[in-house]
Parts: sequence; structure tokens; C-alpha cells
Amino acid sequence: MTSSKGLTRDFSSFRRAVLLLAAAWPAAAKAQTSDQVRSVQSIFSPIGLPAELLHQTAVLVLLVCLGIFVVVGGLLLYAVIRFRRRTTDDDLTEPPQVYGSTAIELAWTVPPILIVVVLALATARTVGEIQNPKFAGDPLELRIVGHRFWWEVQYPKYNVITANEIHVPVSYLSAPRPVQMTLASADVVHGFWVPQLNGKEWLVPDRENKWWIQPTSLGTFLGNCTVLCGLQHDNMLIRVVVESPEDFDAWVKRQQQPLSPDPSVEVGRKAFETNSCGTCHTINGTAANGIFGPNLTHFMTRKTLGAGVAANDDANLKTWLHDPQLLKPGCLMPDMKLEPARVEEIMAFLKTLN
Ligand code: CUA
Repeated sequence: MTSSKGLTRDFSSFRRAVLLLAAAWPAAAKAQTSDQVRSVQSIFSPIGLPAELLHQTAVLVLLVCLGIFVVVGGLLLYAVIRFRRRTTDDDLTEPPQVYGSTAIELAWTVPPILIVVVLALATARTVGEIQNPKFAGDPLELRIVGHRFWWEVQYPKYNVITANEIHVPVSYLSAPRPVQMTLASADVVHGFWVPQLNGKEWLVPDRENKWWIQPTSLGTFLGNCTVLCGLQHDNMLIRVVVESPEDFDAWVKRQQQPLSPDPSVEVGRKAFETNSCGTCHTINGTAANGIFGPNLTHFMTRKTLGAGVAANDDANLKTWLHDPQLLKPGCLMPDMKLEPARVEEIMAFLKTLN
């Protein structure tokens, strides 16, 4: 017997499934805003080249499958109705037996072979175009390193290192700005996937994979790690911020700025350096030079904390500094057991990192 509690639970998971489905519906995918931390992404609203190629191939496969479904389902339906049992049926005589109809044999052999060949060629073409891109113009080179459970983002040409939020310029038809990414891993296998921009690609230790995107619309596009990499795998979120070329250049300039020491938060900087925060994090221009955690030099230019797990606001930052395990249980940043006064000091310092 199902208890009423069980029923409520069943109903709430059903409701959740309906909501997820609704969010995954193509029209809903556009509704995300840049402040949103998490939303269901759809490959059916591609933005830019690799994703558009994948989308075309997916639609072709789906249409072919729909055609097969209609033909097979239609024949089945016809047979069920046309040859259903009738009261006038004579159960004693055998129906006519048909052997070796060349027409029927050909009908169910040749079209399926043709369909498989067409799908294989179309898929091979798409794979080829994505794996061996011919870039118009110089691509922007990025190096992305997967860590448990966050993304290191390097812009070698600009000497910029940031985390989790990937800023790229938009591609106009007249001025394409492809972004070529080298994907690597610092620890275990991860997967990089921003569904509206491209398919999935692996990040494997001791190996480098090439991947690329070429977004054609402004906005923030969300993605996630696709390979189970540990406790906080599902909170290893990616944000790709597509900006106008001017905004992108301004962002790069800002990231290149050295830290301008603010005497009013000196005590916070010291607290950061002496409480071993700097063993894991780098802040250019301070004694903090760790590489185990995200580079925080321009921390306040990011919209989220903990690889997208929460919005970067005062309340969340305070919770994070008090105990990161509350927002992201299982993340590799331990509870530093900071006194409330230290939390306030370090928070004041972090908030100057613009
Ligand atoms: Cu990284 Cu899952």
C-alpha cells in the first residue's frame, strides 16, 4: 500500500520531471538571463557554427527516424485493422502462404541500406567539419584546464588567467571570431559541454584535446562537466559570456590590470595570506600564489562562486568563507574554521578585487 507521503513524493518528482521537460523545450531555452546560475540547456537552439552543424545533423536523423516510424507504424496499423478477426472468419482452412517475394525482399533491404549510408555520410561530414575546422581569421586561443570541481581558463596571448566564466567576443558574419580551446585536465577525466555552442569533448590528464566555438549571439551560455569526476561533478558549471568585441577588449584590459593595493583592506589581505588561502589561490601582486584553486586576482568581475554553484553576492560569499562545504559539500576547499572577524576582513579584501 502506498502511503500518502510516498504519493506526495511521487507527485513532486513527477512535477519536477514536467518542469525539466518544459525548460528543455526549445522555446524556453532562450529565456535564460545572464544572472541565472543554472538552467536546462538545449541543443535545439544552437548559437554559432559547431552547434549549428550538430543541430542540422540531429534534425536530419530525427526526420528520417520520424519517416521510418510513420511508414512502419502505418503498415502495422493497416494490417491490424484490415486483417482483424471477424465473426465470419473460417478458422479451419490455412490462409494463403507466400514464399520468396523478390519485391518484398528488395523493399525491406534496399531502402534501409540507403538510409544507413545517407546517415553515415551526413554524420561523417559533420564530424569532419568539426574536427578539422578551417577558421576564417586567427582564432582566439584559450587553454582550459579541468580541476575537481572548477575550470581554469587561460588566455595565453593576453596573459590572463581566470576561472569558470569564459569571456569571448561575438562572431559577426562579416567578422568571424572563432575561439579555439585546448582542453587539459589537472587531475581526473572531465567533460566540457556548452550545448548551445558545441558538443561534448573530453579533458584527459596528460593529453590535450582541441575544441572550438564560434558564438554568433550576445549573452551568457551555460554548460556543465559531463563526466562523473567526484562528489561535486554536477556543480562544475561553465558560463560562456559572449560579448561585443569592444566589451571583450575592455574585459581583457581589466583582467590585465595589476592589483592596486587598498590600505583600508590591508588587514584583510594579511589575513588572506596568513590563513593559508594563498597556498591554493593566486592573487597577482600579493604573496598568494597557489595554483590548486581558482585565481582570484579579479574575483569581483565574476558573477558566481564555487564554479557557478551560487551567485557572487555578500551573503553567499560570507557563507563560502565561513564554510565552503555548506554551499558545495565535497568541494576540495576545506572549512578553514575562520573566526567571524577574519571572515569579515577577508571578505572586505576580496570585494576590492575588481
Ligand atoms: Cu568534472 Cu565532472
